[in-house]
Amino acid sequence: MTGTPRDPRRKEPDRLVSKVSRYQPLDERSHPAYASPRYASSVYRSPREPLIPIRQTLSELTGPSFGPEILLPGDADLTSNAGTGSPALGERIIIGGRVLEEDGRPVSNTLVEVWQCNAAGRYNHVSDTHDAPLDPNFLGAGRCLTDAEGRYRFVSIKPGAYPWRNHYNAWRPAHVHFSLFGPAYATRLVTQMYFPGDPLLDIDAIYMSIPSAEARARLIARFDHEQSRPHYALGYRFDIVLRGREETPLEAL
Ligand SMILES: [Fe+2]
Repeated sequence: MTGTPRDPRRKEPDRLVSKVSRYQPLDERSHPAYASPRYASSVYRSPREPLIPIRQTLSELTGPSFGPEILLPGDADLTSNAGTGSPALGERIIIGGRVLEEDGRPVSNTLVEVWQCNAAGRYNHVSDTHDAPLDPNFLGAGRCLTDAEGRYRFVSIKPGAYPWRNHYNAWRPAHVHFSLFGPAYATRLVTQMYFPGDPLLDIDAIYMSIPSAEARARLIARFDHEQSRPHYALGYRFDIVLRGREETPLEAL
């Protein structure tokens, strides 16, 4: 179907924009600065000029949306979604929680994607040269949609720590990367989830680049006995808040 090309000089259709909610700006106290001196590469790639706020228009407020048609059966089970017929190696875990808007409303039917290294601390990626074994039965990526209550759930392997070149003898604490779109681009969140009690957290330049201890704590999952499965896997709970005072911090650039 063809239509009349939109005149770029035409004003935003405020009649439509007023029907969708606008989102508060990011809470800067919860997020790492673009340049964090201890996180060496952030200094080189951070903006040098003041940022230009983007006006929230229909484009930022109404999409994108993904439906169940993009998912394959088993996408949320990282212990088996390599499709080899053999289980991934390592300590099985279940990660689940809720995705909430700034006012506490559940974010239903939104895409949650995760990626992580294997139990030995190695990513299934050509650029990972860490001298640790790859697991042919572990892709390290999964995705699912939240249900009507905003709940999501993944079965996976507890990721290992891995070295990186930020400084001498630097190791990343065990973590799982998360990407969420929420209801709109304005609520897009890319972050990392950590595990309770990890001794590497306090010396991790990425985790410590989040300015307050209170905000950092929002990135640590809590052990969840309810979600554990007997004789199978330990459970962890990680709730995610998109915008607002309890906002889950973004990961450092
Ligand atoms: Fe990572």
